[in-house]
Amino acid sequence: MNTPRMLNILLVCSLLPLSVAVKADDLCLFANAPPAYQAECGSCHIAFPPQLLGAGDWRQVMATLDRHYGDNASLDEAVRRTIADFLVGHAGPPSKVGAGGGAARPGALPRLTATPWFTRKHREVPRADWSHPKVKTPSNCGACHTRAAQGSYREREIVLPDGRRWED
Ligand code: HEC
Ligand code: HEC
Repeated sequence: MNTPRMLNILLVCSLLPLSVAVKADDLCLFANAPPAYQAECGSCHIAFPPQLLGAGDWRQVMATLDRHYGDNASLDEAVRRTIADFLVGHAGPPSKVGAGGGAARPGALPRLTATPWFTRKHREVPRADWSHPKVKTPSNCGACHTRAAQGSYREREIVLPDGRRWED
């Protein structure tokens, strides 16, 4: 069969008008994502769905790339601006983390893995799975969501780090 390959690879939100507030549960990738987003922000971890942080959070992340969660992720200013515009333009509702929110310490960078949404979605995931050596950190979405890099988080695609399927 000759299924168009792209359909299998990317879950794209191209049918949504940009003005529609995207729910955090729709983690489809955006057809208009600048190639630089995947290239520059998808090498150390996956290029996170922009819907999972608020606009202010993304501004903070993109303004501090030289001090990026203990790493240096600095970019050329033009590229930085292109990516920042994309993230801010597709941000979700204010995430309640970061300044004044649930951050561990003042000035700490916002984490989509510290939002109430993330906690709620994962409250049934056993502690042993989080501390498995293949996971290392909650932001390692692909350790359990086999198609995270393609923007897909369906339950039937979840394989825990010890190899067991979440849904069986
Ligand atoms: C040089 C490697 C590197 C690059 C390049 C990089 N990051 Fe990161 N990023 C990290 C590390 C390390 C962490 C911390 C991971 C952890 O503790 O779970 C992180 C964490 C994050 C988090 C918080 C994840 C969480 O725990 O909720 C966000 C958001 C983020 N990065 C966005 C970006 C964006 C946007 C870009 C591109 C501009 C980018 N990163 C490029 C290394 C990188
Ligand atoms: C340790 C494994 C693990 C990691 C790491 C992980 N998840 Fe999950 N995630 C799960 C499991 C298991 C579920 C299903 C929980 C349930 O149904 O109660 C889930 C559920 C979800 C759901 C809801 C899916 C649905 O159909 O309702 C989303 C969305 C999601 N995770 C996104 C993420 C993102 C984004 C990251 C990384 C920032 C991430 N997860 C990291 C294991 C993980």
